[in-house]
Amino acid sequence: MTEHPTLSLDKDGHKTAGRLLAAFLEGYEDSIPGRPLVPEVNREVLANLLTTPFPDKGIGIEGLFHEINDKILPNSTTVSHPRFLAYVLGPPNGIAPYAEAIAAAINQNCNFWQLSPSASVIERAVVSWLAGLFGYGEQSGGILTGGGSIATLNALATALHAHRPGYREQGLQNSGPRLVLYTSAEAHRCVDKAAAILGIGLDNVRHIPADDRHRMRADALEQAVRDDRAAGLEPFCVVATAGTVTTGSIDPIAEIADLCMSENLWLHVDGAYGALFVLSDRSDPALAACARADSIALDPHKLLFAPLEAGCLLVRDRTQLRDAFAFSSSYLTVAEDPLMVDYMDYGPQLSRGFKALKIWSALQAFGIDTFRSVIGRTLDLAQYLAGRIQAEPDLELMAPVPLTAVCVQIKGATEADHTAALATLINEGTALLGPARLNGRHGIRACVTNYRTTHADIDLIVDRLAEMAHDVRSRVAR
Ligand SMILES: Cc1ncc(COP(=O)(O)O)c(C=O)c1O
Repeated sequence: MTEHPTLSLDKDGHKTAGRLLAAFLEGYEDSIPGRPLVPEVNREVLANLLTTPFPDKGIGIEGLFHEINDKILPNSTTVSHPRFLAYVLGPPNGIAPYAEAIAAAINQNCNFWQLSPSASVIERAVVSWLAGLFGYGEQSGGILTGGGSIATLNALATALHAHRPGYREQGLQNSGPRLVLYTSAEAHRCVDKAAAILGIGLDNVRHIPADDRHRMRADALEQAVRDDRAAGLEPFCVVATAGTVTTGSIDPIAEIADLCMSENLWLHVDGAYGALFVLSDRSDPALAACARADSIALDPHKLLFAPLEAGCLLVRDRTQLRDAFAFSSSYLTVAEDPLMVDYMDYGPQLSRGFKALKIWSALQAFGIDTFRSVIGRTLDLAQYLAGRIQAEPDLELMAPVPLTAVCVQIKGATEADHTAALATLINEGTALLGPARLNGRHGIRACVTNYRTTHADIDLIVDRLAEMAHDVRSRVAR
């Protein structure tokens, strides 16, 4: 017994917590295929979780695990289910929960190296490895973030600093003509969101039309830049997408890079969904042009199957990242060490957790080859899904499938029919898919970002969609 209040566990406490945690993780893994995709939410339990006061005297470790097992787990979505194919959200890899526990135990503050020497090097190793995948060289740098949206926000802040050296002092208020940002009509909303947050203003974001394969039209981009310059505005940045969220299309990054170079525009690639397909030898050759971007956003919490949250921003010239984010302060100054990075100088956060450990641990434990094959398999499964859809007379593939997002329309179905089909698939436990909207057409979107999905799962989904489509056809024919 300690003589003072403590929040540590004694030996018995560690044994109990360790036993219960191991049982939880193993039991959860075994239960995944049989769990409901979306829980039948017990509103009473949730309301109680909201209103029950926290106890003055703790309920102890066993009591805590009871609460988790009885109340939290049954009211949680089974993101890891093999037929969870909605959004771009994969199951976490198996070693990550253990790495997260260790990161929590040692609680490194990844702001400056003295508070996190090995963590700083581990983050640097992960970032350098990621940078190398895109042909970024010695000068490059980057930082792990809370996700792709934050990575893009930070990239645009960096682009603003690079373009307007007086940005830090003057903001955007008094420092020259209106700046214009270009992205495609198919870009993720995080681009608009970043432009709004940074004060660029949505009126100054051009959504360039896409071609029939949902890729930004480079000719229309060039025209828009010319028109804006003629109108006295100041183009400064293009955000291309490597893997649009709806169809996985990859913008013509090489052509866009040529334009950016001749027009002196920052090129940022939003690769939150698609960039990490570069790991597969079957990846789209268009991804190779990412090497020419000034910055790239990507998401280890998608294709590296890191648990949320783990995004990453890579910048070709890391001094530009420092120029945007480094502030000196008297109480945080430590001598620079060439081996380590002070990550507080690479982004807006000061206190930062050890996100890199879960990524590094999985790369170490499973090896890169495993990730290559897992990612390759998701590409194969998506092609299989697309092929099965094309073979069904009452289903229509809405777009090409360059990556793993597959959009399908039930022929003759209304938007309400598609919404009802999605709900039925969830309620009967067949699959969790998402809605698709493409050029004003509606449908259903499945995205294979799941290492547990099998061909049999795909068959089950397509067979059921075909039955529903048959019902729609019979109704329309009546
Ligand atoms: C193309 C694209 N960009 C950005 C994002 C946002 O990433 P995050 O959810 O990690 O912020 C996504 C998410 O799916 C995406 O698909």
